[in-house]
Amino acid sequence: MFVQIPDLLSADELRQAQQRLEQADWVDGGLTAGGQAQQVKNNQQLDGRGTQAPVGKALQSMVLAAAQRHPLFFSAALPKRVLPPMFNRYAGSTNAYGDHVDQAIRYPTDGERMRTDLSATLFLADPADYDGGELVIEDSPGPRRIKLPAGHLLLYPGDRVHRVEPVTRGARLASFFWVESLVRGHDQRRLLFELDRNLMRLRERHGDSPETIGLTGTYHNLLRLWAET
Ligand code: NI
Repeated sequence: MFVQIPDLLSADELRQAQQRLEQADWVDGGLTAGGQAQQVKNNQQLDGRGTQAPVGKALQSMVLAAAQRHPLFFSAALPKRVLPPMFNRYAGSTNAYGDHVDQAIRYPTDGERMRTDLSATLFLADPADYDGGELVIEDSPGPRRIKLPAGHLLLYPGDRVHRVEPVTRGARLASFFWVESLVRGHDQRRLLFELDRNLMRLRERHGDSPETIGLTGTYHNLLRLWAET
């Protein structure tokens, strides 16, 4: 399931994030990739260490808070755990990330493990300011090529081969992170998302009724059946 979440960041937050990232120090993105991914990764990442640590922390908090307050993010991801967001930059000679699959398990801190059920990319640069840089994700019947307005988030299944096309003008800035979901199976999560969205629409149109209350019960009972807390 691919879900676009428009305006995850407010216009003010987006401006702040862009300003901070323009002044930030960047390091080789290959440092945080493993195995096959490392060989095809040619971008830069925000340096989260030393004097740069407060900048990274402030930006992480901003993105996490924005995701947590957005009802569509909760409904689509059913997050159990969200890995602290990271930030990357594609420009100049470090401008692409070839085909790869993200690691299934990440280590938020020493001794902790989480499964990457969903990948998230928050686009932070105005698409008019750069050429290329599409996120291309394997799908049936063919790959999806995605480039969203600044401040918009894409949630996609963590198990797909994907790449970022070379940026040929300007700079592509983004935040990326992974979500371990309460509901591991993509099919079950999608059914819950569709049920939840349609229930919201029903309620908007007709208010509550015995039927919406009954279906809300079905939603929660399916979640009870499938969720691992
Ligand atoms: Ni990736």
